[in-house]
Formats: sequence, C-alpha cells, structure tokens
Amino acid sequence: MIQVAVMGYGTVGSGVVEVIEKNKEEINKKSNEALNIKYILDLRDFPGDPYEDKIVHDVEVILNDPEVQIICETMGGLKPAYEFTKRALMNGKSVCTSNKELVATHGPELIRIAHEHTCNYLFEASVGGGIPIIRPLNYSLTAEKIDAITGILNGTTNYILTKMESEGAAFEEVLKEAQEKGYAERNPEADIEGYDACRKIAILSSLMCGKNVRYQDIYTEGITKITATDFKYAKAMDCTIKLLGLSREENGRFYAMVSPFLIPKSHPLSMVNDVFNAVCVHGNMLGDSMYYGRGAGKLPTASAVVSDVIDCARHIGKIITCFWDAENVKLTSIDEVEHTFFVRVKKDREQKAKEIFGDVKEVTAGVDGEFAFVTGRMSEKEFNEKAEKVGVINRIRFELA
Ligand code: HSE
Repeated sequence: MIQVAVMGYGTVGSGVVEVIEKNKEEINKKSNEALNIKYILDLRDFPGDPYEDKIVHDVEVILNDPEVQIICETMGGLKPAYEFTKRALMNGKSVCTSNKELVATHGPELIRIAHEHTCNYLFEASVGGGIPIIRPLNYSLTAEKIDAITGILNGTTNYILTKMESEGAAFEEVLKEAQEKGYAERNPEADIEGYDACRKIAILSSLMCGKNVRYQDIYTEGITKITATDFKYAKAMDCTIKLLGLSREENGRFYAMVSPFLIPKSHPLSMVNDVFNAVCVHGNMLGDSMYYGRGAGKLPTASAVVSDVIDCARHIGKIITCFWDAENVKLTSIDEVEHTFFVRVKKDREQKAKEIFGDVKEVTAGVDGEFAFVTGRMSEKEFNEKAEKVGVINRIRFELA
C-alpha cells in the first residue's frame, strides 16, 4: 500500500481525492500497488465530508510521517507551497502538483532537490489542465529538436473569447460564469491579464530548450482590450481571436510571448473553444503535432495530478528524468520580434495611416467612423514607432503559421 497525502482541499485537491476514489480499481492496477489517501492538509474543517477524518491542519504530520511516499500539492501560490514542497522532497517524498506559479518560479531547483533525494517532482497538471503535454515533451518527443510551441493555455480566457464571439456576450458576465464553473483563478487578473498563460508558456519553453525560461522575461498581454468590434473585424477577415502563448526558436534566436492573436479560421487552434486548451508542438523531424483537451476544471486537472501520482508509484526509489537546467535562457527582445498587425484608427487618420504605414490592406466590417487595415510584416519596435505617430484605437497581431 502506498500512502498519499493531499495538501490543499480546494477545487483541484478535492478532485484528486474524488479521482483516486472513483477510479480506484483502474488506478491501483496501473500503480502496481494500492494507493491510500492518509492525510488531507487544509486550514479549514470539513464537517460531514466523507474524508473528514483525514483532515489535518499541521503540515508536520505529513512531512514527518515516514509512511507517506507521495504528496499532491494542490494549494496553489508560492507561500507556503514552496517551503512545504521543498521540505517534502528533502524528506524523500515525491510531490505531484498543479501549481504552475510554483513550477514556473522554482521548477529547476525543486526538480534538482527531488533527484538529490531519489524522488520526483512532477507537474503534468500545471499546463493544459487534463491534457497530457508535459509527459509528451519529456518522454515522447525526445528524438525531436522542438523549435516552436503555440498554445491556447488558459481555459478561462478561451471560454470568455468563445462566448464573446458566438453570443456577443459582455466580458464581465462571461468572466463571472467561468468563475462559477471553477475555471478561473482566485484572482481573475491572473487569467485575463495573461499571467497564468505566461507561467504555462514559461514551463513549456523551459522544457523545449532544457534550460530555464524565466516567466518574468516573457512579454505578456491579456485580453482586456479585446472588444465586440474587434470580433466584427475578425469575422470580416474570416479569422477569430485567441489568447496564445508562443515559444519560437528561429535562426538561433529564441523568444516567448503571450498575447491575443488573430488566427485564420483554417488554423487548427481556431477550432479550440470554450474551456478547452490545445498546444501545437513543432519538431524538426515530426513536423506538427497537437495536444487537445480540457484545460481547466476540477476533474480534468485532478486527473493529470493523479497520473503523476501513478508515475511516482511506479518509480519509487527511482528518478524520472526531466531536462530543465537552472541556467537562464536569454530571450530575444520583443522589440525585434516580427509580426503582421491588424490596426484600427479613427476615420480622420486614414491618410496619415497610409502615409506612415505605406501600402496597407483595408479591412471593412461596417464599423462607422473607423479606418481599419492590415500592415506588412514588421518588428514590434517599428510598429510601435509608426503607431505612435498615427494614434491607434486598437491593434492585434496575426498568427498565420
Ligand atoms: N485559471 C486557469 C485556466 C486554471 O483558466 O486555465 C487552469 O490552470
């Protein structure tokens, strides 16, 4: 029997307990040994909960119990998750987490500590909710040189953008719905400003190059400036708008960014709707591959945590390799990154826009008082200099590949 502890009995933590209970037979078969939830750590009491007797309030009970071999960290945030995780690993207990903030901030250190103590730090649930993406990068695509990752990495914003497009719904109203469904972060800013997607693309970028991509170095823009009018233009161009996390290695330069993008309806990511996430990975031998599934929500995320628990159970006393060195990657400045831009200006700026941007392609969508156009490909720096001279209402980058 393998004793498991769950730290944090919130949405994901209670999902972990539910998955282990509901799929007991399947899971025990695949783990080679039965799993037993011995403790659940939370500050709160849960009177009447079927697992009430497992609740503990003191982490020391878990950390000092030699019987506990695997811990699920579903607390989120850095404090106290970082300290608890570190101490658990130092005590030789494997930790499986959904905590992208912690993984993005201290991933290489925690992996190193785990390996020094012959246990594992696994984080499948930290990116893409229930979608297997960390394991494919670690195990399956090992013969590849990966040069591009493009993902819809946040379920809440994808849910919001999908509803804005299909129902013309108001931003706030849809955000509330996403929160009620348990998709959103406690602080919705993390979703809508792109911070959550930024942590996730930092993790994927680090696995892509085997070194540390600091999330603090990633240019990040959220969806708060996207309006119903932008969707009108998108429709006129046979495009949709998605919040993408990108990572690219091009001619020895490496960049990562998070931003809303216009993508053609023919792009595979345009079909990824609601809370679903998807990650496109391009390898130099394989070409394109895509991983798709539920990117947020209690049971999908919990399922990914439990898949890591099973992996740990199968590797007790063994190290699961993960290439993520502590050395920081120097990212190419966003100023040098090139894109094509969709731009909206006031009607009286049309001449000026044509003068400054040159040969632009006009976009009409029946919007009064505006001139909208698509630029040629140019660097962010060049675009910003030109946009400043014209004065733009909004601009959205294109992702065409
Ligand atoms: N708030 C996150 C999302 C949860 O909406 O994708 C899953 O990481």
